[in-house]
Amino acid sequence: MIEEILPWDVRSADAFDDLGQAPLFAEEAALLERAVDKRRAEFATVRGCARRALAELGLPPVAVLPGERGAPRWPDGVVGSMTHCEGYRAAAVAWAEKVTTIGIDAEPALPLPGKVLDMVSLPQERALLTRLTDAAPTVCWDRLLFCAKEAVYKAWFPLAKRWLGFEDAVIEIDPDGTFSARLLVSGPRVGDGEVDGFTGRWLARDGLLLAAVAGCGPAG
Ligand SMILES: CC(C)(COP(=O)(O)OP(=O)(O)OC[C@H]1O[C@@H](n2cnc3c(N)ncnc32)[C@H](O)[C@@H]1OP(=O)(O)O)[C@@H](O)C(=O)NCCC(=O)NCCS
Repeated sequence: MIEEILPWDVRSADAFDDLGQAPLFAEEAALLERAVDKRRAEFATVRGCARRALAELGLPPVAVLPGERGAPRWPDGVVGSMTHCEGYRAAAVAWAEKVTTIGIDAEPALPLPGKVLDMVSLPQERALLTRLTDAAPTVCWDRLLFCAKEAVYKAWFPLAKRWLGFEDAVIEIDPDGTFSARLLVSGPRVGDGEVDGFTGRWLARDGLLLAAVAGCGPAG
């Protein structure tokens, strides 16, 4: 499903359950010694997805270990991202020479609980959500905003290697299935330019919300 919102030069794989969990590398299994079953299952399944996606780039199976602040460490020359939520796991990878960065996120299509929206959104984003809800009340726009922000963070982090807060980027969601993020803080340099934002695509289907960023603007 995630492939529907990724460009052709990104390879991906996903799973809707943890049946047929892929075996783990010893270094990966060592990270799970004290993990609960739910964490073991999502960790193993999403790494199986990652290895399937890497195989599509022609790469052999490798351990995908967490690096700096939890960001996955990919083989040299590869960028990628992983996500897991109730009922869905996905991984996406590409050659770094073709795609600058990737960020994917999946969320259940349920309203954000309690006061979470206030904590993760800017006033102009809440105004946007009101307009979107008026136009299409069946979509969980608040959760989609959160989903897009998580995807942006996962694309941002490998480039910037620093925190990006929920208040540090303004998201604009278009009902046509695209979104953009405008950074309110200075961005990392990529090539000759400073990254000032990201664009992505989203999908709402079968009780899930998916968001994907591949590349960045204007430098990549
Ligand atoms: C890190 C974070 C984005 C993970 O998102 P999540 O919805 O909680 O969880 P998901 O299942 O979708 O994603 C988890 C995966 O994200 C990846 N991830 C974790 N930290 C990461 C980082 N710093 N950079 C990139 N990817 C990261 C990992 O692959 C992880 O899976 P793993 O633990 O099995 O290796 C989230 O917990 C977080 O810290 N968000 C706050 C920052 C933010 O979103 N800012 C908004 C900017 S507009």
